[in-house]
Amino acid sequence: MKILAIETSCDETAIAILEAQGDETSAQFTVLGDALLSQIDIHREYGGVFPALAKREHAKNLVPILEAALEEAELLHEDTQAIPDETRAEIAEILAREPGLTEAFLEFISECEPAPIDAIAVTSGPGLEPALWVGINFAKALARAWRKPIVAVNHMEGHIMTALASEKSDSHANSGGRTLEIQNVELPVLALLISGGHTELAVMKEWLAYELVGQTRDDAVGEAFDKVARMLDLPYPGGPEISKLAESVRADLDLGFQGSALEFALPRPMIGDASCDFSFAGLKTAVLYLLKKNPDMNAEQKKHIAREFEDSVAEVLWKKTSRALEETGAKMLVIGGGVSANKHIRRVFTQKIQSEHPDVTLRIPSVTLTTDNAIMIALAGFYRALRGDFSKADVISADGNRTLA
Ligand code: KG4
Ligand code: ZN
Repeated sequence: MKILAIETSCDETAIAILEAQGDETSAQFTVLGDALLSQIDIHREYGGVFPALAKREHAKNLVPILEAALEEAELLHEDTQAIPDETRAEIAEILAREPGLTEAFLEFISECEPAPIDAIAVTSGPGLEPALWVGINFAKALARAWRKPIVAVNHMEGHIMTALASEKSDSHANSGGRTLEIQNVELPVLALLISGGHTELAVMKEWLAYELVGQTRDDAVGEAFDKVARMLDLPYPGGPEISKLAESVRADLDLGFQGSALEFALPRPMIGDASCDFSFAGLKTAVLYLLKKNPDMNAEQKKHIAREFEDSVAEVLWKKTSRALEETGAKMLVIGGGVSANKHIRRVFTQKIQSEHPDVTLRIPSVTLTTDNAIMIALAGFYRALRGDFSKADVISADGNRTLA
């Protein structure tokens, strides 16, 4: 099955085309084309993602990104297509809310053959609704033009599937030909999802059926990284910046579970609480107070704050995940979402799973697939398509708060 996947939930515009084979017990994926444009540089001056701007950028970039993905997949064949007026009118209506996109889209489809894909997968949530809508309307227009079925994918399921996937090590040379496999999954699987908008623990007891075990009561962990970074005068997105600072003052085997010996100790919010819920707003405020109390802090001291913040986050994430493993009896643990790129969190989880839950298998996505991309949407879209989980184009809508369960 050839899947064309579209991701526009936040600040990356991405389209990937994958060839997928197999079934729920064992599946193999070859990335035929993968095009991604990050808007990070555009949003940086606002210190975060600005939804109206994200929407406009997606609308501007989708056609060129589609062309790039098809070209890489060797599926772009120039040919003049006669588009009946009725189809043109329908497409114009579908894209009416995306300024400029109708003209670019109609021009594109009238100049190339319909690509031989079997399904279009598109993120329908969670995410920023104006941004999600652009991708959805684009998917609807493409589905209309090429007469293809649509699968509405949950972005978080995409993160889970990427974490479950293993990448063949010889497939890194270029994205075309990159291969991924998902097999030997042992249920129940516990998923820790950590991103800019989410912090949750969900258990998959049966394939593709989820229950929420815990979640943040205030800020998402990525949001806390980004806000603390701003307090430390670091650019957006803050996660990688804090990580760099923290790593520079971290000894190799330092898991950071002793708390800071310095005067900069930060709390470990809700760590002793009997739930699997999180809270990061207080931690963020604690950093703010520390900085206010010490206005003349030097660069070296700021590095220690970054390290202490990262230690606190990693420790809380681990303790709550460990509790959830016990409560759910999960055999496998996956971590997904942008924050799972974090070196220290990956290190803590890799070591702690061995020492405290040796019977549980940990799967972490390859770093290049941790932040948002369209490959993850294709993986989830494949399993949904296998189940015939197609959506009628006229009923798909963006759901900014779409949940897994
Ligand atoms: O999953 P993602 O790309 O987008 C959302 O769906 O939110 O996650 C983005 C988040 C941002 O908050 C960013 O600061 C964080 O992931 N992030 C990191 C790292 N790389 C990205 N946080 C900590 N350490 C990192 N290395
Ligand atoms: Zn994400």
